[in-house]
Amino acid sequence: MSSRTSDVLVVGGGIIGLVTAWRAAQRGLTTAVVDPEPGGGAAQVAAGMLAAVTELHYGEQTLLGLNLASAHRYPAFVAELTELTGHDLGYRRCGTLAVALDADDRAHLRELHALQRQSGLESEWLSGRECRRLEPMLAPGVRGGLRVDGDHQIDPRRLTRALLTACERAGVVFHRMWAQRLRVAGDRAAGVATTDGQELGADQVVLAAGSFGGRLEGVPQALLPPVRPVKGQVLRLTVPPRHAPFLSRTVRAIVRGSHVYLVPRESGELVIGATSEELGWDTTVTAGGVYELLRDAHELVPGITELPLTETRAGLRPGSPDNAPLLGPTELPGLVLATGHYRNGVLLTPITGDAMAHVLTTGELPDVARPFTPRRFAATGLLEQPA
Ligand code: GLY
Repeated sequence: MSSRTSDVLVVGGGIIGLVTAWRAAQRGLTTAVVDPEPGGGAAQVAAGMLAAVTELHYGEQTLLGLNLASAHRYPAFVAELTELTGHDLGYRRCGTLAVALDADDRAHLRELHALQRQSGLESEWLSGRECRRLEPMLAPGVRGGLRVDGDHQIDPRRLTRALLTACERAGVVFHRMWAQRLRVAGDRAAGVATTDGQELGADQVVLAAGSFGGRLEGVPQALLPPVRPVKGQVLRLTVPPRHAPFLSRTVRAIVRGSHVYLVPRESGELVIGATSEELGWDTTVTAGGVYELLRDAHELVPGITELPLTETRAGLRPGSPDNAPLLGPTELPGLVLATGHYRNGVLLTPITGDAMAHVLTTGELPDVARPFTPRRFAATGLLEQPA
């Protein structure tokens, strides 16, 4: 086998591509990743909330099952990766408080609470006073909230670094270049051609390029994943030691219809997110985006105005038509998808790695991931509408 041929070639070196490559290499498959900047992507922007319960939506109960299964795997996943790499991943089992600022927000939270209980999830209703007792920095106007002790957080940048190290230790080869075109030989995917004219061969190609997955040339039109970029602007503030502890858990709310969340790290970083904008490939940080996030976060936690604003950034969530990922084999033998994770990429990293390793070694999705086959869109014609 030449050095440019592998059992598995993963297109995309974000967290989903990296976890896929790591798990594939652990199973004894020779594995390569093609990406000009492995470790980049949406995880460099994401807050890292593991919010299966507080981000529950009507009509997404199937996705809830996958989200919960992945949340359940997190402790063992973190322990394995930490032991292997020596990296601290910033995994913090701190819980989440979702609060309401006015009567409409409170009505919305009450509905969410009912849905959570129907779904058998743990979530406790608190009065405004009880919320402030837990988090004294909350605004006096907070009218009530949901305490969800099972929704945690991880630092996605640290997670990415650990996955890079794990991949390197497992012998994954990195091709630091852009994949331009899928190569098809006979009736199967056979690798990719890169923008600088190289040919990388593989028995199986995994398309794990997030929102870019819908744009790889050479993928038959009917099989292009229907993913689209959904922009999220995110701010990072720093809590100086004299202000600590500022918040002890993730605090979130819907303010004037927009989600806002504050994720406090042990390092003192405070992440505030996120806008949700359908603007194609635009990753500009705008004055309006920063203004709205600070305005909404300030309504929740007025004390943020004292803190240094240390970073502003925008990333692209890979949105799919049903907000759930596309996992597993396609109708083109050798072409496998791991994309469309939308708002849950960090949460779904452990289960995606396990599911993809199963697919790459057996050709089948494990039971827990079967509802997320890309084939679910074939009957609707959505697979014929690339983003
Ligand atoms: N899951 C948080 C976000 O997508 O903004």
